[in-house]
Amino acid sequence: MCGIVGYIGHRQAYPILIKGLQRLEYRGYDSAGIALFDGNIMNYKQKGKVADLEQFCEGKNIKSTIGIGHTRWATHGVPNDVNAHPHHSQDKSISIIHNGIIENYESIKKALQKRGHQFESETDTEVLVHLIEEIQKKENTSLFESVRLALNEVVGAYAIAVISNENIDEVIVAKKGSPLVVGIGENEFFIASDATPIVEYTKEVVYLEEGEVARLSIKDGFELKTIENVILTPYVQELEMSLEAIEKGGYEHFMLKEIFEQPKSITDTIRGRLLSSNASIKMQGIDSYSDNILQADRIIIIACGTSWHAGLIGEYLLEDLARINVEVEYASEFRYRNPIIREKDVVLAISQSGETADTLAAMRLAKEKGATVLAICNVVGSSIARLSDAGAYTHAGPEIGVASTKAFTAQVTILTLISLLLARKKSTISESYYRQLLIELEMIPKKVESMISMNDYVEDISKKFVDAQNFLYLGRGYNFPVALEGALKLKEISYIHAEGYPAAEMKHGPIALIDENMPIVVIATKKGHYEKVVSNIQEVKARNGIVIAIVTYGDTTVKEIADYVIEIPEVAEPLTPILANIPLQLLSYYIAVMRGCNVDQPRNLAKSVTVE
Ligand code: AGP
Repeated sequence: MCGIVGYIGHRQAYPILIKGLQRLEYRGYDSAGIALFDGNIMNYKQKGKVADLEQFCEGKNIKSTIGIGHTRWATHGVPNDVNAHPHHSQDKSISIIHNGIIENYESIKKALQKRGHQFESETDTEVLVHLIEEIQKKENTSLFESVRLALNEVVGAYAIAVISNENIDEVIVAKKGSPLVVGIGENEFFIASDATPIVEYTKEVVYLEEGEVARLSIKDGFELKTIENVILTPYVQELEMSLEAIEKGGYEHFMLKEIFEQPKSITDTIRGRLLSSNASIKMQGIDSYSDNILQADRIIIIACGTSWHAGLIGEYLLEDLARINVEVEYASEFRYRNPIIREKDVVLAISQSGETADTLAAMRLAKEKGATVLAICNVVGSSIARLSDAGAYTHAGPEIGVASTKAFTAQVTILTLISLLLARKKSTISESYYRQLLIELEMIPKKVESMISMNDYVEDISKKFVDAQNFLYLGRGYNFPVALEGALKLKEISYIHAEGYPAAEMKHGPIALIDENMPIVVIATKKGHYEKVVSNIQEVKARNGIVIAIVTYGDTTVKEIADYVIEIPEVAEPLTPILANIPLQLLSYYIAVMRGCNVDQPRNLAKSVTVE
């Protein structure tokens, strides 16, 4: 997944492009580049981060009021200077940046090579700009029309921006399968993969829809059409995001900021939905499909990574509270295993970014089969949100750190609200239990607040495990998915191998791993098979394992046997995952920082995987 930016207007483009790329670097950072016009289209690009590009451009005195920029997460071609974007046409008059994959690029490349085209890179993107050039020369058309015609020949996903020597008062953009936002200023346009580079300049934005292509010109304005040449009117929206929301706010890393934001983000998730005055839950999107859900044979939850872990917790909540049959699927598996999907199924996609390719594809498959498709997303206007029949935004605010934290707890909060909404409609739990859970859910932000103040204690514990080679995470019931999530957090930012298991599964194999070098995190909260988990801790200690236990305030039993104990507030069992997860986020954060890892941009990862 890559980040693209562009600018055309009255300001110098270079600083706007560089700053925009810095804001998008979480989307991919193995190479970066910009194209500007200073008499001719000039590409400045190289392997490395945006800071390296800035150094490379130092002193080049680049003056241009039009430009495009790109930060890459390699899909075709290794990260190097040649494969970095932008790419130019054979005659170097056209320059393009691209986020996505052109699946039929090889056949197009062969045809172009037969007509004398020579390529410098291994990328699919370079093929696309040569195709645009070929069409423009053959059809003698405008750049706008040439891009549109070229996109009718490609198969795959793209968010592109194209500029040319031919007319420096235009940037051509197009979108299919990868996100692209256009910011509208006073006689200027901003282009980006998401709104974070745009919000400081304007709040007026247009999210391009699937299969749309646009021409942005200061003289002629915003021309929008489909790639089938149907003229459209741009739908301008007001951005909700604020600038401070995307800054670090004094924290060392976005990840720590986002962990500390959770009392607020959970409050924002609940706001307007949990109406304590009359003990009711209002969720417009879900409500409009509650009959479909109540009459459904089952709910199939599809997601990837952390969102899949939230989905697992959703399964426990929906089955336990609302007695609805739930299956949780990795979207990447679901889309290819020829699954049985019936019209009476409800498919629920969960995604922070709303752009994960596998989740999008699984949703499309479900829609083709006639299922109702709902979504829980964090990014307003994202592709998954717009593809769904209805759904709920988590309102966790922009999540910049690659490791998902506040979006996860927001997803679980939404799933809890949905489960309670449906349980009440079905009367599958008593009114008193329903009201108890509602009251406790409303108190969660305060409880999270109280836990975050323990971060120094968790930091101290983390020091003991900086050199650990492996970790096991164990939990039962609602806390089994929390164990999986804790393990993922640790491995993806500290690069320590970690596995999550249902605690009872240990004796079916993993117990062989346990010795004095193996740290084991055990979630042993009072509610949820507590006695059995205590036995599991004793089994670990009998083999000299090192136990870090997450317990309920005031627990004395586990304190006697575990090596380290982190206490969390007492809460009803269905609400435990939100709280139990917080110390695991902090533990992985501090271990990773002490290991000198790049916490916000871990190696090999990107914030949203918009390619397969
Ligand atoms: C989470 O910490 C990971 N970065 C990753 O697993 C992520 O959850 C996954 O890629 C799904 O992303 P999405 O929620 O944006 O769809």
